[in-house]
Amino acid sequence: MKTAPARIISENYKAMSRAAAQLFMEASQLAISKHGRFTVALSGGSTPKEFLKSLASPSFNRKINWEKIVFFWSDERFVPHNSSYSNFHLAKTFLFKKIAVPASNIFPAPVKGSPEKSATGYEQTIKKTLGSKTCFDWIMLGVGNDGHTASLFPGSSSVLEKKKLVTAVLSDTDSPWRISFSFPLINRARQIIVLVSGKEKAAVVKTVFTKGKNRKYPVQHLDPAKSLWLMDKEAAGK
Ligand code: 6PG
Repeated sequence: MKTAPARIISENYKAMSRAAAQLFMEASQLAISKHGRFTVALSGGSTPKEFLKSLASPSFNRKINWEKIVFFWSDERFVPHNSSYSNFHLAKTFLFKKIAVPASNIFPAPVKGSPEKSATGYEQTIKKTLGSKTCFDWIMLGVGNDGHTASLFPGSSSVLEKKKLVTAVLSDTDSPWRISFSFPLINRARQIIVLVSGKEKAAVVKTVFTKGKNRKYPVQHLDPAKSLWLMDKEAAGK
């Protein structure tokens, strides 16, 4: 059993972001040629900002067939979509406003009503859009300093969720309610991409890439055989 994921270490945050954009472009072209579309779940937080800006830049924007790409989010804060805390708002600001992607290809998590109903509704939309296998081509994730990924935080029962594909999570962050993919959904992806930058993440990265059985952090529940970590030297502890 493969115990450590694959990784690509870039010189710095900007280089890592460009490497992620290059892989996104290549993966989208392959998926579209193989099965007519590329289904991706974007990650949130601040790390994806430069990646999104790279995708929107002339180096990549014109080489990607946006009409064949379907966007979801691997987690979302339960805040209005025009909030600066919203992961959808991040992608809209730095990518969607700059590319010709049909609005019908974009599926933000619903953030009205009850978080639980939103999670159930999002799961239904995923099943309807992807089909019964609910297998994304790419699921993108970040990592917190505490080893969380998506909105699957240490000590939360959502980390051990086995049935639901999308869960409502109450966190102790500044946007408490979250909608998050669960590990059963994440680990069905054809490819899991983890973007991680900065020395404050180095301790978690070191644990993930040190062989061992114990799962200290939620992010260690990712299937290593399907995971590719893109990181800068600081996160790699270099
Ligand atoms: C979120 C994210 C979360 C994030 C990590 C890293 O909604 O906040 O999905 O899992 O990826 O917390 O956040 P930074 O990129 O800001 O370090």
